Amino acid sequence: MSRNVQIYEESKKYTPGGVHTSIRSVDPFPVFVKAQGAYIYDADGRKYIDYQAAFGPFILGHNHPYVNAKVIEAIGRTDLYGVGCTDLEVECARLICKHVPSSEQVLFCNSGSEATYHAIRLSRAVTGRKKLIKFQGCYHGWHDYAARNMLSAWEMIGKRDPGSAGMLDEAVDHTLVCTFNDLDDVERTFRENKGEIAALIVEPIPHNIGCVLPQPGFLQGLRELCSANGTLLIFDEVITGFRHDIGGFQLVAGVTPDLTTMGKAMANGYPIAAIAGRKPYMERFNTNPGGDVWFAGTYNGHAVGTAASIATIELMENEPVHERIFRLGDRMRAGIREIHERLGIKAFVAGFGSVWTTYFMDFEPKHYGDLQHNDASMYLSYRRKLNENGIFKLPMNLKRNHIGYSHTDEDIDVTLEIIESVLKELRS
Ligand SMILES: Cc1ncc(COP(=O)(O)O)c(C=O)c1O
Repeated sequence: MSRNVQIYEESKKYTPGGVHTSIRSVDPFPVFVKAQGAYIYDADGRKYIDYQAAFGPFILGHNHPYVNAKVIEAIGRTDLYGVGCTDLEVECARLICKHVPSSEQVLFCNSGSEATYHAIRLSRAVTGRKKLIKFQGCYHGWHDYAARNMLSAWEMIGKRDPGSAGMLDEAVDHTLVCTFNDLDDVERTFRENKGEIAALIVEPIPHNIGCVLPQPGFLQGLRELCSANGTLLIFDEVITGFRHDIGGFQLVAGVTPDLTTMGKAMANGYPIAAIAGRKPYMERFNTNPGGDVWFAGTYNGHAVGTAASIATIELMENEPVHERIFRLGDRMRAGIREIHERLGIKAFVAGFGSVWTTYFMDFEPKHYGDLQHNDASMYLSYRRKLNENGIFKLPMNLKRNHIGYSHTDEDIDVTLEIIESVLKELRS
């Protein structure tokens, strides 16, 4: 029996389904035991070029020596106190405020879900309102406030689709769902719920469904509608933050939200997340004397996460990280498009910067509903075959791929060669 299978069977004895977060259980089941740079290695000794990047944190690559050295140095001297603040927290917060336009102040927590939860609760406190707008297909974490109408079954689009059993009906029903890239829909929702909407939360690029780009004017339109309605605009930059620019996608788009949530690429794989925003709002948190919005967490601001984030941001400041990953992303997309053209494959290669995905459909999707036209079984077979050939992409429908600073031109060449041979095989 393969070592992968042995470990999986053992894991299922102690853990429901054998995995510690949803959608980690895929077929064939991988057990990775080593990671270095752009490569990951399974328990049977197979090597893969990794584009899954653990859902996005690895912008520099796995086990990055500069980040690791900074973390080791930090934990050799300090850790966590549960009182006061640390020099690492101050430096990390300073760097975020320096780069992210909406960040006048920052608070650290440990996951993107915590960050979006706090942003939504703060918005309710600031506005005295209850309702929230999100978009079909976007994901903002596992809590009741936002976990509805994510990767919905097609027949559930436009309907009430809670993401989990056990959610409070009130939370589900106070979250209204709009169509991405459809400003008329958002405007109508504001009109029908006048004076009731506390916040609008959006992934500025909905990467949880691959890569659906905001159409020109859409994010600006959201900004204007939120301002006109006294609603807080929350950019959930847990994926886009630091990956698409050191200042986040808000800097690329030229649209500044009231609150921003960040995670993943901010610390190259180490656990930390953040909520940032305008000072008058952030000062409502009870970390500030007199603040009335609860904010707490035993591990908030731990030396591991803050040191890793400082190191990651410093490297982005001092080396051409974005220039390189954008160039490699462009090469990848152009290479795949050229292969499709030559082989007569009907597909749309979507992407931005270091992120891309191949939808097997013949037009650019503008929102989640458009993705019904993607050939899901082809999408899955394609990714499984790539995995068999040493190119790791999550074998699940509508998932994106990430390039990191440690990927090389040679990795892209090898990937394109394998993509071509897999597509030839699938076509025949
Ligand atoms: C856009 C977005 N927001 C929030 C989250 C939740 O982050 P976490 O898994 O760290 O709780 C995710 C996770 O994938 C995400 O993609």
